[in-house]
Amino acid sequence: MTKKQTTTSYRVYFGSGDNLNEIEDGEVSLVVTSPPYFNAPFDYPDLFSNYDNYLNLLENLANQLKKKVAEGRIVAIVTDDMLVKGEKFPIVADTTRIFVDAGFRYRERITWIKPKGYVRISRRSGVLLQHPYPMYYYPDNIQESILIFQNGEYDYKERKTLPKEILQKSIIDTKFYNQELYLNTWNVTNVLPQKGRLEEGIAAFPDEIARRLIMLYSYHGETVLDPFLGSGTTMKVAIEMGRSAIGYEIDLELQNIIKRKLKVDQDRLDQNLKVMFFTKKDARNLRTDLNKKVSLQKSVTK
Ligand SMILES: C[S@@+](CC[C@H](N)C(=O)[O-])C[C@H]1O[C@@H](n2cnc3c(N)ncnc32)[C@H](O)[C@@H]1O
Repeated sequence: MTKKQTTTSYRVYFGSGDNLNEIEDGEVSLVVTSPPYFNAPFDYPDLFSNYDNYLNLLENLANQLKKKVAEGRIVAIVTDDMLVKGEKFPIVADTTRIFVDAGFRYRERITWIKPKGYVRISRRSGVLLQHPYPMYYYPDNIQESILIFQNGEYDYKERKTLPKEILQKSIIDTKFYNQELYLNTWNVTNVLPQKGRLEEGIAAFPDEIARRLIMLYSYHGETVLDPFLGSGTTMKVAIEMGRSAIGYEIDLELQNIIKRKLKVDQDRLDQNLKVMFFTKKDARNLRTDLNKKVSLQKSVTK
């Protein structure tokens, strides 16, 4: 059963999201996250030296979450297969296998569909227009998977033990459910990491994805974790929805972005809202490191 808190709290740790020592076992009621997209050409070129390193990160994460997530509760992972230098990596399948092997139940796969025309990377579909013959078909990608894993069975009797006030604050509007949420395909506009935007170069997901997951899988006052916090979307929405939140982010350079994102909405929130920031030994200046790596490679290949 989830540990109940009487007040909300917010903690951001700069350090790797696969080392969650600062969290008590069973403290987390819901995980909403999107791991770095394996060596994604725009956002994380060559972040991982190979695919096995990437899978190791997910394995460590799954094993840690098995202990930190309360019995029966949910880990929601927004992810997608990644095309790197012409090769597609089966991240959705591998993530599923890793979480199942770590002991989670595979509960659901929701497909997040972005609007047509919102394609970030070059239009691969144009290849067939240039060569209108068999074998030139490379469709544009406008979907991602939201993988839902469950840490064992949930005890539905728990609801009956919750105070009325918590139940009232957590109730889901069934009109909205009937119109938008009853299918396992969600049409939600994505955040385009445009120049000058807070989320530039971060591959952030939109507030609406976090909002739906928090509404569907956690009660008011419970703790939501994002081990790859990025710009802070999960924490921002958790605050708005009266949940506590914990975030991990390896890149110290995102500190100001996270502060700005949370502060943007702070005006609307309780004046006592305090977000605590901690820096661990393995925090990095990831963006600077990656930029250096890319410019080094460019100068070598010139
Ligand atoms: C896809 S983004 C998450 C975006 C986030 N959902 C948002 O809406 O802004 C993945 C994040 O993971 C971070 N990251 C990469 N490796 C990490 C690690 N080992 N531990 C924690 N964060 C890491 C990246 O710096 C990046 O900010």
